[in-house]
Amino acid sequence: MCGIIGIASNKPVSINIINSLKKLEYRGYDSAGLATLKDNIINEKKCSGRVEELEKILFKTPSNGNIGIGHVRWATHGIPNIVNAHPHSSEQVSVVHNGIIENSDEIKKDLESKGIKFKSQTDTEVVTLLITEALKASKPLESVFKTLKKLKGSFALGIIFKNFSNIIIGARRGSPLAVGYSKNENYIGSDSYALKSMTNKISYLDDGELCVLTKDEVSFYDSRLKKVNKKILTMSENEGSTDKGEYKHFMIKEIVEQPLTVKNCIDEYVDSLKKNINIVNFPIEPQKINKIILIGCGTAYNSCLTAKYWFEELTSIDVEIDIASEFRYRKIKFNSNNLYIFVSQSGETADTAAALDICKKNNVKTCSIVNVIESTIARNSDWVLPIHAGIEIGVASTKAFLGQLTVLYILCLKLAFIRKDIDGNNYVKNIINLKKLPEAIKTCLKSESNIQLMAKEFVSAKGSMFLGRGSSYPIALEGALKLKELSYLHAEGYPAGEMKHGPLALIEEGLPVIVIAPKDKYFEKTISNMQEVIARGGKIIFITDNKKESLNENIRFGLRVPHVDNFLSPVLLTLPLQMLAYHVALLKNCDVDKPRNLAKSVTVE
Ligand code: F6R
Repeated sequence: MCGIIGIASNKPVSINIINSLKKLEYRGYDSAGLATLKDNIINEKKCSGRVEELEKILFKTPSNGNIGIGHVRWATHGIPNIVNAHPHSSEQVSVVHNGIIENSDEIKKDLESKGIKFKSQTDTEVVTLLITEALKASKPLESVFKTLKKLKGSFALGIIFKNFSNIIIGARRGSPLAVGYSKNENYIGSDSYALKSMTNKISYLDDGELCVLTKDEVSFYDSRLKKVNKKILTMSENEGSTDKGEYKHFMIKEIVEQPLTVKNCIDEYVDSLKKNINIVNFPIEPQKINKIILIGCGTAYNSCLTAKYWFEELTSIDVEIDIASEFRYRKIKFNSNNLYIFVSQSGETADTAAALDICKKNNVKTCSIVNVIESTIARNSDWVLPIHAGIEIGVASTKAFLGQLTVLYILCLKLAFIRKDIDGNNYVKNIINLKKLPEAIKTCLKSESNIQLMAKEFVSAKGSMFLGRGSSYPIALEGALKLKELSYLHAEGYPAGEMKHGPLALIEEGLPVIVIAPKDKYFEKTISNMQEVIARGGKIIFITDNKKESLNENIRFGLRVPHVDNFLSPVLLTLPLQMLAYHVALLKNCDVDKPRNLAKSVTVE
């Protein structure tokens, strides 16, 4: 993961580096650091923990210099401490790095055998020391080029040089790197978001490329060090604001925003007057699509799993789903009549991006459903369906999940209609139901105070289980994922019918078990599974949209969400689970927006 920034300017850069690092913190917050260059001296400042700490250090001992690099770390090699924090500098160079150098142990042994000493446990330091060695005989660009040839893995680098005080070199293989342009100032950054407050003019390095930045110009080179030209793109305006406003955390702000983000998404795709869905330019003629393969990680995978139920119910298309980190290493039988759909909030998730690359190498058609339209995954796919959720900052994905579900449902309806799997009346009826969704989400949000009470049941619990059948099963997975990532409480999501095949052994007196049971074709079966849990002492938290179901004494807590069309109930049932995870985390004093060990954008595999 990790975030990197580099600025070459005609004025001091440390404040802007700090500001950009704050934006990049969603990529990692184990440690932070920067290095600036003044009078041919590399001035390095680092801290373990958050950028705030680095800012305090800088306040006490400012760093001057019109050129500099900065980093936020998500630890891979070596514990999160000051020594392992980036930049990693020698006398000659300072390096920030995102990604993994896979052959770092081998290189380290080789360098150590030559008497070269290492300070840190990181894989990055081999880059610093290889460049330092190469500089004895070559200029900066050649030294970096020679070093890159020795590295295996996936990475993006930013490098400054003691004796070449006006340049920053950037390089990428696998991990993304953007370049930004402004008057008397140029930038490199892990993503365009980090550069947004400074410029809206950007380019992206393609895989294997390098760039050399001065304050006045940027030159690009391909993987054979041949100069190349780059298109300069103008970034779109931010959809959604990047401050917390009246809210205590980004997560709750993003939860509360959902009626609006879902509405925006529906408005982008649905023509309300004509009751039609505006999706065109399918990369494969819809009638000819043989199969859809939905691929994602984490929450995005859960949205794929939910959509599988929709596609199977509403269309005649066969659907498979896959976890990107598994898909990328399996022996897949590709078929040019299959449509491969990649779902990702950030559009930068390394496993999802790699799975997409494999599809491209096999010449099959790809679609991405993303939030960040300038992202690597969006740029590399044949067809992009944005979710229009606006920037999501809380590490735990909330509004992006609902956005993904909304777009997947819209796509499913459109395909079902074009392929004549549903008739015109049904198509219009489903569109009308969809348009009612934002209001129903608003109503769901009103149950927050009940959920605060419910959350108390989890504070001293040893673990918890989330159960659902049909399209409530992925929602159970999503509820469990949110709870575990935010409150560090063990939480398992299961298909309710699967309990008796093993997990029932976990049920003991007082274990909180969340049963998700909308009034659908599975309802009675889910209730039977719930009885099996009650009989073994499980403490039931029952979430339904069934107005008729009376909540009996065996149910510790019951919560009703508005009843909507069955296809859309997974969207509504998600809301209480998001709020539950949020409130349990608050009660347990966990860092809601930056849960331990995680990062928003997972750019390592
Ligand atoms: C969980 C969460 C993660 C992400 C996953 C994929 O709350 O946010 O599980 O869903 O890391 O990220 P994207 O969607 O950016 O590909």
